[in-house]
Amino acid sequence: MSDYQTILVERRDRVTLITLNRPEALNALNAQVLADLLAALAAFDADDTQGCAVLTGSAKAFAAGADIKEMQAMDFAAMYGRNHFAGYETLTATRKPIIAAVAGYALGGGCELAMMCDFILAADTAKFGQPEVKLAVSPGMGGSQRLARAVGKAKAMEMCLTGRMMDAEEAERAGLVSRIVPAADLVEEAVKTAATIAAMAPLAVLANKEMVNAAFETTLAQGVQFERRLFHGLFGTADQKEGMTAFVEKRPGNWTGR
Ligand code: CAA
Repeated sequence: MSDYQTILVERRDRVTLITLNRPEALNALNAQVLADLLAALAAFDADDTQGCAVLTGSAKAFAAGADIKEMQAMDFAAMYGRNHFAGYETLTATRKPIIAAVAGYALGGGCELAMMCDFILAADTAKFGQPEVKLAVSPGMGGSQRLARAVGKAKAMEMCLTGRMMDAEEAERAGLVSRIVPAADLVEEAVKTAATIAAMAPLAVLANKEMVNAAFETTLAQGVQFERRLFHGLFGTADQKEGMTAFVEKRPGNWTGR
């Protein structure tokens, strides 16, 4: 865990708290951040003692975007040839849930990284934006697609074309964030929410995440069928028997992850 250069990783019981830690660059996302995040999330996903992750930044910035200084001199061959930023899609293959806890700036790649997480809890100080157009480029980590799916075409188009920021209230109204909490309580609230998730039967958590995500990739009929099949599959688990028996016996479930 101590090998990471740009993030801090802490385990709080069954919750992995990952904190972006490049304060000198407002947590701008460079190649090292991606490498650290991929390593930390792979370790989290493979660890049966961990049930949910929280990804956060600092009070001033979740992340102020991809690292502009790293990209400044790059040309088309370097970008296209190395498929720059494609590595972030690996991050979205994490099977266990990840909550983004966003305070301050979540701009460009920072907003995109938050949207790659399963949901976003926002501090009242949060500001979201896709300002790449001001640099004569565009989102490159999925922002135009995920923002449009999250808030609809009108707002996504306005944000991408003007680069303006959305505050936490507007982001909540638009459906970009699940809820707003006071900045001072953000990390504790996110960890508490993650602990609630991590206390659920692990296979049911994986299935719930997988089926909600399917809503963005399928027709309604296919999605409903996918949900029903996964639901049926959960009846093959010991934890389903335990969960329903525990309800009937009016006691908490005791999960085995089987
Ligand atoms: N990349 C590299 N360095 C960055 C950075 C970024 N995205 N954002 C901030 N920094 C650096 C600044 O250069 C500055 O470093 P120095 O002290 O060495 O000059 C330091 O972080 C502090 O930043 P500011 O002095 O600018 O802080 P501020 O409070 O005055 O302004 C801000 C804050 C409005 C967020 C401003 O920093 C800003 O506009 N940042 C860039 C936002 C942006 O354009 N993001 C999109 C990047 S492109 C992208 O993300 C592509 C993609 O889709 C994947």
